[in-house]
Amino acid sequence: MSWTSLDKMDLDGKRVLTRVDLNVPVEGGRVTDATRIERIVPTVKAILDRGGQPVLLAHFGRPKGQRNDEMSLRQVIPALEKALGRDVTFAEDCVGNAAAEAIAKGGVVLLENTRFHAGEEKNDGALADEMAKLGDIYCNDAFSAAHRAHASTEGLARRLPACAGRLMAEELNALETALTDPERPLMAVVGGAKVSTKLDLLSNLVRKVNHLVIGGGMANTFLAAQGINVGKSLAEHDMTDTAKDILTRADEMGCEIILPHDVVVAREFKAGAESETVAANACPADAMILDTGPDSVARIKKAMAGCKTLIWNGPLGAFEIQPFDAATNAAAAEAARLTREGSLVSVAGGGDTVAALNKAGAADDFTYISSAGGAFLEWMEGKTLPGVAALG
Ligand code: 3PG
Ligand code: MG
Repeated sequence: MSWTSLDKMDLDGKRVLTRVDLNVPVEGGRVTDATRIERIVPTVKAILDRGGQPVLLAHFGRPKGQRNDEMSLRQVIPALEKALGRDVTFAEDCVGNAAAEAIAKGGVVLLENTRFHAGEEKNDGALADEMAKLGDIYCNDAFSAAHRAHASTEGLARRLPACAGRLMAEELNALETALTDPERPLMAVVGGAKVSTKLDLLSNLVRKVNHLVIGGGMANTFLAAQGINVGKSLAEHDMTDTAKDILTRADEMGCEIILPHDVVVAREFKAGAESETVAANACPADAMILDTGPDSVARIKKAMAGCKTLIWNGPLGAFEIQPFDAATNAAAAEAARLTREGSLVSVAGGGDTVAALNKAGAADDFTYISSAGGAFLEWMEGKTLPGVAALG
């Protein structure tokens, strides 16, 4: 996949329509986690440094083509100004006179939620034409929205000279290093509740990785597929044939699947619930599996220590609640240690994953933490992201 980087473009005196992802958590009109905002700062500054005018385009929430004050991007302005250390002019619309007038004032401009127009999600050509009139160059810095073929992520890229912003380039390079062209052995850690939501992911990974660690609720479905009684554990019993298929395919591909062989079980799902560690095939009928056991973690750590690259999506247990965060914390700490030591390249992404690694205090040591949730997953599934393809 080849794309042009922002650094290769002549930006002097140019209006740079910059697609960013400002879909940040907001409570009571205030941004509660500015991570995504902070991550677009290098691109905005690079455009300014090179004499261009950053005109930011973004979506917020899912307003379904209707104006909606609760989903106005106006509420991210204070956090954006703080991150940039300068004023931002806001325009009430992402097309038309309001936008043109705000841009004519100069400086950094943020245009209102693109999804207030029904044409955005339809990738409507007329809307993309209207957006294109506002700029000279298109820069996409929203990897985390690149799985959407929308007017501002796809259509617009085909109407103006297009390039990848700093964050977009960083994401693409990191993912390439982790999955397209990794140093081997390569380990993937996949967790989360359900096999059904990660089917394409698992199918793609067994073809690509040397070791595939499966944890979280989805591991229970794999245990059930092997005829193990998982008691009251979360498991998709209608997915056991699919799980068996994945195990067979992994075997054919020489991919080692690492499932828990010991598990932490409890009768209640609450913080501090009484728990015990048992063999994976010994979950009591009235208990549920809530975490990967310590022997299994030791095995994961051993395999990880022999790897050169790690890609991680999803927690190994019910990490939100103690003590069921132990396996996730221990495996994350080992990944962090190996990365610090310089023997492992570690890349992680997906909403829950980043929260879990932050909670484990391991995120800062990872080689790369993606800003994306759904887009990271689709990339790991081997899918082409329309927003990326349109840059090529
Ligand atoms: C995200 O938050 O994952 C991206 O901004 C995409 O948002 P969407 O899932 O509403 O398209
Ligand atoms: Mg999403």
